[in-house]
Amino acid sequence: MGEKWVLMKTAQTPTNIAVIKYWGKRDETLILPVNDSISVTLDPAHLCTTTTVAVSPAFQQDRMWLNGKEMSLSGGRYQNCLREIRKRAREVEDKERGIKIEKKDWEKLHLHIASYNNFPTAAGLASSAAGFACLVFALAKLMNVSEDESQLSAIARQGSGSACRSLFGGFVKWIMGKEDDGSDSLAVQLVDEKHWEDLFIIIAVVSSRQKETSSTSGMRESVETSSLLQHRAKEVVPKRTIQMEEAIQNRDFASFAKLACADSNQFHAVCLDTLPPIFYMNDTSHRIISYVEKWNRSEGTPQVAYTFDAGPNAVLIARDRKAAAQLIQRLLFYFPPKSDTDLDSYLLGDKTILKDAGLEGLEDVKALSPPPENGSAQKYPGDVSYFICTRPGKGPILLSNDKLALLDPETGLPK
Ligand code: DP6
Repeated sequence: MGEKWVLMKTAQTPTNIAVIKYWGKRDETLILPVNDSISVTLDPAHLCTTTTVAVSPAFQQDRMWLNGKEMSLSGGRYQNCLREIRKRAREVEDKERGIKIEKKDWEKLHLHIASYNNFPTAAGLASSAAGFACLVFALAKLMNVSEDESQLSAIARQGSGSACRSLFGGFVKWIMGKEDDGSDSLAVQLVDEKHWEDLFIIIAVVSSRQKETSSTSGMRESVETSSLLQHRAKEVVPKRTIQMEEAIQNRDFASFAKLACADSNQFHAVCLDTLPPIFYMNDTSHRIISYVEKWNRSEGTPQVAYTFDAGPNAVLIARDRKAAAQLIQRLLFYFPPKSDTDLDSYLLGDKTILKDAGLEGLEDVKALSPPPENGSAQKYPGDVSYFICTRPGKGPILLSNDKLALLDPETGLPK
């Protein structure tokens, strides 16, 4: 082997939001859950992680950069993912460049990893899910690993539980599995992103100055202290998962919304049942729930489902574009931007929905009339930082355009 070459791959992986929540582990190291969960993958055009992984005989140690800043790879979760993927590495040959890596070489060769999120990491959106999924997917490609996405999901799971569901597009189920070694705890695709194309997703990134409890420690405390969690895992989720799968297969929005909202609410009830109680939602989150409930009731059938993870942000899934346009009118009525913010920076992602809603600029937002289903016309400017409009999206992809790589092809260092 020559000493100069750098071989690399770049991948892009979506984030996901659970509609049946994972909350609680039966094994902390292997990251094995106490119940199945189901998620929808979000369009990577609006929320994704891009990761470049490189190998070179010139590299002295494994190194990683996140959003341009070097970070330690010494944590157990990174080490577990790297070990598991290295075990499965196979021979790689680039005849054109005269590079050949034998299976046994991978143990000695070091890696450089650069990762970038196309959304603010501090926003409290599931960045670790997309991050670990992308790391495992990109390394599998670089190392010519033959395992399929489900098998790779069992490796990503050891980085962060929810990451295993980001190996697929559309709707995804993480099967909890029974084995002690975690070999059957993996993700499978229920349907791809084309199955239910009507859905439209609006995320309200809620302003919060509160320091939140991380998912990892929050769920540990729930497992130790909440009896509601035990009941949920044994009695509620198994039935709900079957009903949710049916609702997704049949594109039955009324059932889907009922189940997703109930599951989000039960997850937050488990948090309240934890000692000491964990409060992830705030007043803004509660207001959004109440607006959606009132509107759904007034329509006679659900227009929108809501779900909240371990933070105050609302993920709102509208049954179709028409409902999404009516939803954004309502959201912008209650939560208009502060006077110094323009609409273009207040609404990110797929902005086409603004046109459907007849909202071309701030003047149109100011002219919105109060939603008829709600008695109160009180507005809360500044309580939402911004909205992201998106849709269900596809799974991980390999980027073939070298210009999109985050590492320099000569040095293997961040560009
Ligand atoms: C509320 O996957 O972040 O988002 O496995 O400890 O890394 P670790 O936790 P994480 O937990 C996600 C919890 C959740 C629900 C979900 O995504 O299913």
